[in-house]
Amino acid sequence: MEGFKISLNLNHENLTEDQHLILNLTNGYSNNRKLKKLTEEYIQITDGDKKFVELKEKTKKEVSERLAKECDSFGKEKDIIYVDGVFDIMHSGHFNAIRQAKKLGDTLIVGVNIDEEVQKVKGPTLMNDEERTLLADSVKWVDRTETLTPYTTTVSFLNKIGATHAAHGDDIAVNEKGENAYQELIDAGKFKIFKRTEGISTTNLLGRLMMIGSSENDNKFYKPLVGNYLPTGWRFKEFCNDKNPKSDDVIVYIDGAFDCLHPGHIKALKLAKEKGTFVYVGLYDDGACEQVYGKSNPVMGLMERASNLLSLKYVDDIVIGVPRKVNEDMLKSLGIHKVLAEEIYNQTENDQYEAPKKMGILEYFNVTPKLNNQFFIDRINKNKEVFIDKYMKKSKKEEEYEKNKSYNKKEV
Ligand code: CTP
Repeated sequence: MEGFKISLNLNHENLTEDQHLILNLTNGYSNNRKLKKLTEEYIQITDGDKKFVELKEKTKKEVSERLAKECDSFGKEKDIIYVDGVFDIMHSGHFNAIRQAKKLGDTLIVGVNIDEEVQKVKGPTLMNDEERTLLADSVKWVDRTETLTPYTTTVSFLNKIGATHAAHGDDIAVNEKGENAYQELIDAGKFKIFKRTEGISTTNLLGRLMMIGSSENDNKFYKPLVGNYLPTGWRFKEFCNDKNPKSDDVIVYIDGAFDCLHPGHIKALKLAKEKGTFVYVGLYDDGACEQVYGKSNPVMGLMERASNLLSLKYVDDIVIGVPRKVNEDMLKSLGIHKVLAEEIYNQTENDQYEAPKKMGILEYFNVTPKLNNQFFIDRINKNKEVFIDKYMKKSKKEEEYEKNKSYNKKEV
């Protein structure tokens, strides 16, 4: 409907019977300028359109639905929520935080805290400002992203970016001075809380990543917290798009482990979306990931990886637990038009993309970093002592949080 000109000076005498009908639908609100404008917009759509009759019923329904919605929120101030964070090794807890924050208002701004300040409070991150922003900006619930944001959020900062409230999980964020990073907003009544997602954290993932390729002795040392993310049916449904391809969609398929997401994954998924109009991602199950990438893989379980993918704006739907060898039956059943595979698979002998190749629908692509966890492992190894230290300190704090957390806050 966007793109149609809205005329505020309609000559009501010239309206057809049907246009009057639509106008009458909104008679009760005729003193309301905003709703009147909306009605006129719809009349403008139907005016002079050859498919007028077909459109009439649809338009009537849409007008009444949209008006009902507008009436509900009319007169209410819009809540513009700001949810910020470090979002390092973006995980299901972060995605679930953003999902819940969106529900607390009308518009959502995500802020990605600046490296320099994060370093002082939490130590080094594995991903830099630009990488963390790219990930946050790819989340489907996000309306706008602010990068290089301060760790402590003030009222003047909220005003500057045009937000009405900040939101955070029910864990307290303590700043460099040892104070609550949102205290000023709490005092001003501009703070909203959502439930922190259990059993998943950046520290937890750092521990799991450090297990990859480490010796038995190291394994004893790291003792990563056991991942305890709960993919209940209700929560998983909240991540899903409830979307099926339409008959004129160009359906693209891309598969893999999609473990800890990094800029390479985002580039590949964005490319997939550019190649068509509906993107299916086939997700290897945990056993297949271990076969491909070795012991201690994947770092995130199947349902965590599934939820993460469904949080991204480039993904329309996923196929959970696909075999590594793409099969013709699945391609036909899902009506797939194009299959994308990383260029490295062009050289392998055991060709897992044999079926789409034969069907003439396979395209290779090249992105950096490659779609595996090496991106993170290399960064840990460059600064190993520092990350071990960070892991040990943070995991102690998280154990404390786990012990003392309350179960009062309900997830939205
Ligand atoms: N968050 C959450 N559930 C988690 C982890 C984070 O709801 N399991 C929320 C936090 O409460 C915060 C936002 O996600 O509102 C961003 O968190 P971030 O600053 O990245 O870090 P932490 O809270 O320290 O979490 P992590 O250690 O996992 O990065």
